[in-house]
Amino acid sequence: MGKSHVSQFNSAGFQADILGWYQTNKRDLPWRTIHGGKTDTYRIWLSEVMLQQTTVPAVIPYFLKFTATWPNITALAKAKDEDVMVVWAGLGYYARARNLLKCARMVAFELEGVFPESIEDLLTLPGVGPYTAAAIAAIAYGRQATVVDGNIERIVARLFAIDVPFPKGKQDIRVKADLIFADITGKGKKSVQTYPQALMDLGSAVCTPKSPSCNICPVAHHCRAFQNKTPDKYPVRPEKKGLPVRKGEVYLIHDKDGNVLFEKRRENRMLGGMVGLPTTDWDNKGENSYIKPENSRYVGAIHHTFTHFRLELDVFESIVPSVKNMINSDTGFISFNLACTYSGDIGLATLFLKALNILFPSLSPNSKGNTDHEN
Ligand code: ADE
Repeated sequence: MGKSHVSQFNSAGFQADILGWYQTNKRDLPWRTIHGGKTDTYRIWLSEVMLQQTTVPAVIPYFLKFTATWPNITALAKAKDEDVMVVWAGLGYYARARNLLKCARMVAFELEGVFPESIEDLLTLPGVGPYTAAAIAAIAYGRQATVVDGNIERIVARLFAIDVPFPKGKQDIRVKADLIFADITGKGKKSVQTYPQALMDLGSAVCTPKSPSCNICPVAHHCRAFQNKTPDKYPVRPEKKGLPVRKGEVYLIHDKDGNVLFEKRRENRMLGGMVGLPTTDWDNKGENSYIKPENSRYVGAIHHTFTHFRLELDVFESIVPSVKNMINSDTGFISFNLACTYSGDIGLATLFLKALNILFPSLSPNSKGNTDHEN
């Protein structure tokens, strides 16, 4: 990408084009409704947390149910954990729901019901990361912030034809994203609030991942990828170099009462300190550090990608008379009932949730990340 494009990039013109387009193309979404004439930070925060790993159409019914049940931050803060988990069920990523409640209680009981305004203060709230903090600061409070979700990432990658593959390319995108948000406050508070949402709508309706509709794009004339006729090339995905594969076995040992045998993983192993199912070493040699339980039956296989290798584990089930009888302090084995593993509170690594999910699908919302970054 030539430097000239960056230096020539007309931020103010780009912003005006996006805001103009939004006037006639905005999506009518429930968290955009203004209540009592002013923006409701509670609803904006709630929608942003729900949208963190879930699509807009999937979030809408949950958002409506939540706001009907708990119309403000105090109501949510006073809700029982179980009631919130029940309404959340199906959205997945239950850690989000637990953080949501923690955050609601912090804001309601420690901050007098008022969300902080600055990105720095917003970042101290449970479940609020850089994206959500920026989104709340901009959308709720009209503050200068660079808001970069997946849609905006794609728009920026195309606009500046960023050739660096992900994940490193994300840093470059972040730097260029500052250009499209440059001095947005100069357009007035209302525009600061709508601008990120206008970009998200453009990403969802026009600058789509596949076959973007450049012919109707209001900012095609600003776009380097459009000029090069290569919008589909961006954002550049990393080359899928074959990661090395490691293999092993994992054992789902349980009794008829729903007690399952787990172990606390030793600190010097991968996922050290987390709770896991008993498993062989993952060394490709097929040697078992655990003796395969008697009467075990193959029930499926799971795949999981770590930063440096792909793991393929065969899953075996073994039903025993009593899991509790297998626990003693020497082995490091522990037992949990299936009911506890549901909430994820036991610190179970995602990989093992996938194994449990083979036999007990209702346990896992099947929505946790697929990759663990661990060295
Ligand atoms: N994705 C995340 N936040 C959003 C919003 N406010 N509008 C549309 N899509 C979004």
